[in-house]
Amino acid sequence: MVGGRADAVLIVTLSGRDSDGTAEGPAEAFRESGGDMNSSDHSPAASHPRQRTGPRARDCLSSDNGRPAPGLTRRRFVELAGGAAGLSALGACASAPQPMSAGVAGARRGEAGQGRTAEPRVQSDQSFDPWLEIDADAFHHNVREAARLAGGRPILAVVKNNGYGLGDRTLGPLLAGFPEVGGIACVRVEEAVAMREAGVTRPMMVMAEGSDDEIEELVRHDVMPSVWLDDAPRRLDRVAQRLGRPVPVQLFVDTGMGREGMPYTRARPWIEELVRHPSVDVRATYTMFSHDMDFDREQLARFEEMLAWAEGRRLPLGTIHASPTFELFHLPEALYEMVRPGNALFGNYPSGEGAQSKADLKPVFRLCARVVRVERLEAGESAGFYRTFKAERPTWVALLPVGRTDGYPSSANGTCEVLIGGRLYPVTGGVNSAHTILTIGQEKTVEVGDVATLIGPDHPAILPHAVAERTDVGFLRIIQGMNPRLPRRVV
Ligand SMILES: Cc1ncc(COP(=O)(O)O)c(C=O)c1O
Repeated sequence: MVGGRADAVLIVTLSGRDSDGTAEGPAEAFRESGGDMNSSDHSPAASHPRQRTGPRARDCLSSDNGRPAPGLTRRRFVELAGGAAGLSALGACASAPQPMSAGVAGARRGEAGQGRTAEPRVQSDQSFDPWLEIDADAFHHNVREAARLAGGRPILAVVKNNGYGLGDRTLGPLLAGFPEVGGIACVRVEEAVAMREAGVTRPMMVMAEGSDDEIEELVRHDVMPSVWLDDAPRRLDRVAQRLGRPVPVQLFVDTGMGREGMPYTRARPWIEELVRHPSVDVRATYTMFSHDMDFDREQLARFEEMLAWAEGRRLPLGTIHASPTFELFHLPEALYEMVRPGNALFGNYPSGEGAQSKADLKPVFRLCARVVRVERLEAGESAGFYRTFKAERPTWVALLPVGRTDGYPSSANGTCEVLIGGRLYPVTGGVNSAHTILTIGQEKTVEVGDVATLIGPDHPAILPHAVAERTDVGFLRIIQGMNPRLPRRVV
């Protein structure tokens, strides 16, 4: 939304936009097939990635409405779900969150007692508080671009770190509503539960290990935990006892990135134990690349070797996925059954040759505020701490009630401009914790109440990447720095 048209804004702050019942694509394909996943697709032979890439895998994706497809008993569905459609199966098996064991339930009750509410406050569209606009069309465009690069494979959308700063409670439901999105991935229990509470019903996974309590909590919210520690079989055994059923998990294998995952050198007996363990339901297996092209290929070879070994041992590893944004753009051999991008969805190209020519990514958000004060300074008067701006001649200045703590970098002073009513105005009087002062000029061309866009797609000077460059802060740090308390408006 460009300045001055705030009244036209559809405010959907934090509300769910999941597309139950309206999704087309993978979910519909599954329903139309009567939910009868061809059993040959789940044979160990068919579980090899080279036989499982492309639209067939996508067709296996199931509904996220938490119900087995018509004509399929729940039990039969759960049986089928353990195979190649593992990730989607989680969603298909999903049911309303179940009660937790005393410790976890108590903790969550305590949290609720401290003010977690299901109904977030909705900001007035005339508000003088700043806000963040989330551009649903731009997100969908980027998701489609990612799906195109992935040859139509489903997107496991990474919405970690509070949705890369833009707000997981808003982005989770938004992204889960796009038919190209087969699931949502994050890295914290808190994020996963928040997105479930916000209405996400798609399959969801956490790309992290957890304590017994956390694994239990995730499973009760129909979220798949990841495991990579040596003692995973024992811990999953304990959690399965509490749940009274096998624990659905994703196996994270470290093929050389050296951050998370079971090191591939020790992975084989561990995988075999987990796959054969009655307390464990392996839904997917994945790895993460290091974004070094030569070493990526080495990692891929290690992963392939491990998959071939598992195939030879007839060990079903569930859905195979590997590629975040960088490899989605540069390593087409690693697309497997789903791709797992975050950055691309947020409009951020990966490094590496030719990335920008491979896809057209759009900016997905605006940081906005209304002008709350317009005053004329006489020559010699000043504005801001330490008299940051000194008027050499009569000059109008404007105040925006948005600042550093909202996520607008202080280094924007003297380097950035703000768009109001189609014109750019320089930031000159400082970016304070909650305020920013602009020079308007000798004419009073803005009024109190006008909408200012500090970061957004509406002018090259305020593009997220332009602001990142001008402030020397970096794209990711800009978006990750957006204050979680800024109201989110989906437009
Ligand atoms: C395990 C894992 N997969 C996928 C992603 C998404 O990466 P990107 O945002 O670069 O696409 C991340 C993010 O760091 C990650 O940690």
